[in-house]
Amino acid sequence: MIETGGSGRLWLLSGPHSSYALHVTERDELLHLHWGRRIALADAEALAADPLPAERPFESALDGHEEYPVEGGPRFVRPALSVRSREVRGTEWCFEEYETAADPATGHELRLHFHDSLHHLDLTLHYRMRPGCDVVERWTTATHVPNGHRAPLELLRADAATWTLPHRDGWRMSQLHGRWGAESRLLRGPLTPGERVIGSRRGHTGHQHLPWFALDAGDAGEEHGEVWTGALAWSGSWRIAVAALPDGRVQATGGAGHDDAGLVRLDPGASYTSPVFAALWSGGGFGAASRAWHAYQRDHVVPGGRQPRPVLYNSWEATGFDVGEAQQRELARRAAAMGVELFVVDDGWFGDRVSDRAGLGDWTPNPDRFPNGLKPLSDEVHALGMQFGLWVEPEMVNPDSDLYRAHPDWVQHHPGRRSTEYRHQLVLNLARTDVREHLAERLDALLHSAPVDYLKWDFNRCFTDPGWPGERYPERLWTAHVEGLYELVDRLRAAHPGLAVESCSGGGGRVDLGILARTDQVWTSDNTDPLDRLHIQHGFSQLHPARVMAAWVTDSPSPMLNHRRSSLRFRFVSAMAGVLGVGGDLLDWSAEERAEAASWVALYKTIRPVVQQGDLYRLRPPDGGGLSAVQYVHGADTVVLAWLPAQAFGAPVPPLRLRGLDRDAAYRDVTTGVVQRGAVLAERGLRTTLAGDLDAAVFHLRRL
Ligand code: DGJ
Repeated sequence: MIETGGSGRLWLLSGPHSSYALHVTERDELLHLHWGRRIALADAEALAADPLPAERPFESALDGHEEYPVEGGPRFVRPALSVRSREVRGTEWCFEEYETAADPATGHELRLHFHDSLHHLDLTLHYRMRPGCDVVERWTTATHVPNGHRAPLELLRADAATWTLPHRDGWRMSQLHGRWGAESRLLRGPLTPGERVIGSRRGHTGHQHLPWFALDAGDAGEEHGEVWTGALAWSGSWRIAVAALPDGRVQATGGAGHDDAGLVRLDPGASYTSPVFAALWSGGGFGAASRAWHAYQRDHVVPGGRQPRPVLYNSWEATGFDVGEAQQRELARRAAAMGVELFVVDDGWFGDRVSDRAGLGDWTPNPDRFPNGLKPLSDEVHALGMQFGLWVEPEMVNPDSDLYRAHPDWVQHHPGRRSTEYRHQLVLNLARTDVREHLAERLDALLHSAPVDYLKWDFNRCFTDPGWPGERYPERLWTAHVEGLYELVDRLRAAHPGLAVESCSGGGGRVDLGILARTDQVWTSDNTDPLDRLHIQHGFSQLHPARVMAAWVTDSPSPMLNHRRSSLRFRFVSAMAGVLGVGGDLLDWSAEERAEAASWVALYKTIRPVVQQGDLYRLRPPDGGGLSAVQYVHGADTVVLAWLPAQAFGAPVPPLRLRGLDRDAAYRDVTTGVVQRGAVLAERGLRTTLAGDLDAAVFHLRRL
């Protein structure tokens, strides 16, 4: 809901639990008023009547109060907007008008229009609230208005939004950091004066940081307290700077691009639209904040987010590059017998791709490996009752490929400079129309050549040589590549409506709300160790729902990572916390192992609606080596997944105090039939029988 007050210069945006208020002063300053618990329009108007602090020579009265600080004038905070023309740098705007719009499906939108007459720049700040959500989505549009001159404007930086937090005595920041194989680790600590900058200079979202933050006054817990949290919907380089200002206020500003080295050049008539920066306030701690994020993504971001995701099998860890038709058929038969619903052939099926040295870019089946193309395999997979999926990495090329030999100029490169090859591959310049046209045509032909239901879209190296010979403003490659990627995926999905897409980037190197708006799930990490995964999944769940988190059961000991041995039970229960997959070498699994796996897959299918669509409660985090557990509540059903990494000598395993239950109702354990009262499960807790090392269990309770 959006209400307008203050004679058309004040707006109050309200969701079910929270409000967000802002106003434009008589001097056209756009000031933040409130973000937190719900307030009334009269409250917002009273806040607007409060004057800014008095001017002082060493501090700006505006700093920490503005909705979107621009470069220039009496401001010392990091600007969200930095514009340069030939003569002038910085922005001075006039407020022009506002618009509101309401759509039952997409929600309520507020647009604030400003104009900088010196730059001939129109700037629109967008605010949107989706139905039933506390998420405020913000983004910015900058347009160079035609003015009779031909000189361009340069946007050095145009952040999506700046978020302003209320005054508190101190602040704590949570972030999700990591590296390849150890993504989305939760880190929570004091925000000290100065700036905490997270981001990526790599051309993709990156394994190092998820574009997310959460801030609290140091007093929030998993299920109590105020939390302010934001996430950027962008899959290229990005930056979020969280500043603890001298007067104790906090602002977080973020958008596309890492440095201020140049985003886009706007010729007269041209526009730039920033990605969306979404944020929400929760009064129910980190758990309620996560549940609000999850519901938002399932309802408003992920295509078909309320549809279940199938159990998949992926051959990568089983076969590596050594792929063949007979072997894939046998894997498919064994996978189908285990209850798998989607069979995916990973890297190695195309071109000369017998190792990572050749073939990327040549998206036709390797004739030695698939002499009759992929259709016979796809037909068999479908006959076995499964969907058929393929791995692709469309943005890349091996120099040893037909595509590169035909079009060496299609890669990002600086002529006269050495090119960096990571994994023997170069990055195609998707900002180029001819590259996108070629890829659209090749992928379309591939999807027609054999019925393909699913693409795992991988991206296995960072940008290092972002050159674009012949382009007047090569800096735009950083954003135009990502826009090109989005366009390509959107186009394929529109042409193949049943197609599902998984975003992968050497594991979780491209996980963000931007890619999730056009993919069905993400590959969480190349680290499939079931114990390591608990930590990765704990961080991942701060922002993203189980419905998009692909998790595989692989071989034990893991041939790829740390040689840890674990039971099928532990591996399955770990992977059942997301979209279950199997990635082990089924040709090597005994009949007993495959039968046990089949029973776990069958169990997963019974709890899938609860895991993938339910409200998540993190009962105990996987810190400290003791018992950890998550709980999902969906309608009358509750599922608890519990893991015990190691039991200390003589140490009792504590019961799990469940949340989100009806205290007055009784709950029956679907497996054992035992009935317990909701209040008992909440107060004393659910007793587990976990014992020893690497034990795990699934509990499925139903309200009577
Ligand atoms: C990286 C992915 O994360 C893996 O799952 C696998 O698909 C390989 N790429 C294949 O090259």
